[in-house]
Amino acid sequence: MRIVVLGGTGQVGRMVVDRLERRAQAVVVASPTNGVDARTGRGLDAALEYADAVIDATNAPDLSGPAARAFFEETTQRLLDAEQRAGVAHHVVLSIVGADHAGDDGYFAAKGVQEQLVRSGPVAHSILRATQFFDFGRTIAAWNTADGTVRLPARAVQPLAASDVADALVELALGAPSGAAVDLAGPERMLLPEFVHRVLRTDHDPRYVVADDAVEPIGFNIASELLLPREPMRLAPTSLDDWVHAEGRRKLALAR
Ligand SMILES: NC(=O)c1ccc[n+]([C@@H]2O[C@H](COP(=O)([O-])OP(=O)(O)OC[C@H]3O[C@@H](n4cnc5c(N)ncnc54)[C@H](OP(=O)(O)O)[C@@H]3O)[C@@H](O)[C@H]2O)c1
Repeated sequence: MRIVVLGGTGQVGRMVVDRLERRAQAVVVASPTNGVDARTGRGLDAALEYADAVIDATNAPDLSGPAARAFFEETTQRLLDAEQRAGVAHHVVLSIVGADHAGDDGYFAAKGVQEQLVRSGPVAHSILRATQFFDFGRTIAAWNTADGTVRLPARAVQPLAASDVADALVELALGAPSGAAVDLAGPERMLLPEFVHRVLRTDHDPRYVVADDAVEPIGFNIASELLLPREPMRLAPTSLDDWVHAEGRRKLALAR
C-alpha cells in the first residue's frame, strides 16, 4: 500500500513512518519540513498521488483554542478535498479522547471540529482518539511549575505510550475504513499529580508535585469527564512502569 503520513515528522508521525517502513509499505512523509503544507495546499496534490490511505498526525503550532480550531478546520478541509481529487480510499485521523463532547471552546473542541469535518467529509474514514501521552507529563509540569513546585488538581487520567498510538494508527490504516471512532487509553488509571510525579522521577527531576484541587492547571484546565475514555474503547498495552524502564534504556543508549 502507499500511505501518506501528514505530520510524519512529528512525535507520533515519526513512529508511524518507522513502523510502516518496517512493514515494507510505501510511505510518503508529508509535512512543511518536507514541502507539504496542508494549510496552504503547497505540495499536497503531488504528495497524495497514487495514495491508498492518509494518516493525519498533524498538530497545530499554536495550541490555544481559536488558533487550533482555525488550523484543524483549514488543514482538514484542504486535505479531504485533495484526497477526493486523488481518489484516496481511507482517511485515518488521530484525535484526542474527549474531543466529541468538549463543547465549543479550547483545544479539545478544536479536535472535535476536526473529527466532525472528517465524519461529514467525502472520504471513508477511521478516527482514533488517544488519551494523554506519557511524555506529555513533562509539558504539564513545565506549564504548572512555580517556585520549584508543580501544583495540580487530583483528577483521574489514563495516559498511554505514544508508541502504542502509532501501532494503532498503522493497524487502522492497513485495514478497511471503520467509519467510526474508537478511544484508546493506557492500561492504568491514576491521579494527575501521581502521573506527573512518576514522569519527573524518570528524569531525576527534583521538582515536588503537590495535589491541590484549588488550582486551575495552566494549559491543561480540562474538565474531568474529558480525560477518561468512553466506549467503544481499547486499552493500550504499555504501562507507565514499562515506559519508565524504556526511557531509562533510551537515555543510557544516548549517553554511550
Ligand atoms: N500529546 C498528547 O498527549 C496527545 C494526546 C492525544 C492526541 N494527540 C494528538 O496527536 C496529534 C499529533 O501530536 P504530536 O505531539 O505527535 O505532534 P507534533 O510532534 O507537534 O508534530 C506536529 C506535526 O504536524 C506537522 N504540521 C504542522 N503544521 C502543518 C501543516 N500546515 N501541514 C502539514 N503538517 C503540519 C508538523 O510538521 P513539521 O515538523 O514540518 O513542522 C509535525 O510533523 C495531535 O493532533 C494531537 O491532538 C496528542
